Amino acid sequence: MSQSLSNQVALVTGGSRSIGAAIVRRLSADGAKVAFTYSASPDKAEALARDLEASGGEVIAIKADSADPDAVRSAVARTAEHFGGLDILVNNAGILIRETVENYDLADFDRMFAVNVRAVFVAAQAATKHMSEGGRIITIGSVAGDRSGFPGASVYSATKGAVAAMTRGLARDLSPRGITANTIQPGPTESGMTVGGGEMLKPLLPVGRLGKDTEIAALVAYLCSPEAAFITGSALTIDGGYLA
Ligand SMILES: NC(=O)c1ccc[n+]([C@@H]2O[C@H](COP(=O)([O-])OP(=O)(O)OC[C@H]3O[C@@H](n4cnc5c(N)ncnc54)[C@H](OP(=O)(O)O)[C@@H]3O)[C@@H](O)[C@H]2O)c1
Repeated sequence: MSQSLSNQVALVTGGSRSIGAAIVRRLSADGAKVAFTYSASPDKAEALARDLEASGGEVIAIKADSADPDAVRSAVARTAEHFGGLDILVNNAGILIRETVENYDLADFDRMFAVNVRAVFVAAQAATKHMSEGGRIITIGSVAGDRSGFPGASVYSATKGAVAAMTRGLARDLSPRGITANTIQPGPTESGMTVGGGEMLKPLLPVGRLGKDTEIAALVAYLCSPEAAFITGSALTIDGGYLA
């Protein structure tokens, strides 16, 4: 693996498990110094950080619930202080509370928007204070932003549509500073979020399998590269043909 991101500092939200952990591993393998947040999985977070440090990476785990704006701001500040700057923000932390409209609890609605949408804005707002030319904001949205796909997905879809729309606005605001902002929209991907549902989902995917977390991480790494400087305000779908 080339060290194409050496001298870069990245913060990945929700990096303790699944897709977020694959992104942390990939950015670290590519040479970036990586901070990542976690909320409910301290053991997995510490194990990941120790594992990557053992292979020569510079990685720190920060406990920060994305539902808490102060915790998100502190995570950004701590990353910049610890590593001396911040170049890449990956908004990965996300939750799925699934329920049909008749039964949806408004407290769950608010939590979904706090974690999946407000935290993305708060992190971007805080991160751009530290970013300079070449900065990258990458948010993990979902194909659910374009197609609900399953019953009980109305609120999740709304959050993912919201981050795609917000990202277009961030791209307009930040382009004059040479900072790009994009959304990656995965289709069904093997992770904690899809555990147990894999067999049900497979027939919906023309490629006949779910995505791998490493495939999402590879697209993140590409968007971080200088070659991707002309991509901004985009929602990039990576879904094995699910939306085709
Ligand atoms: N899997 C899919 O098929 C799929 C498809 C499209 C989009 N996505 C999106 O991809 C992203 C990652 O999903 P995933 O499938 O990897 O989910 P996952 O297996 O449930 O993992 C979620 C990650 O986010 C963290 N997280 C959750 N709530 C958090 C909070 N309040 N504060 C901080 N971190 C929090 C978790 O850490 P802790 O355990 O430490 O809390 C964990 O590291 C999400 O934005 C999701 O919407 C997933």
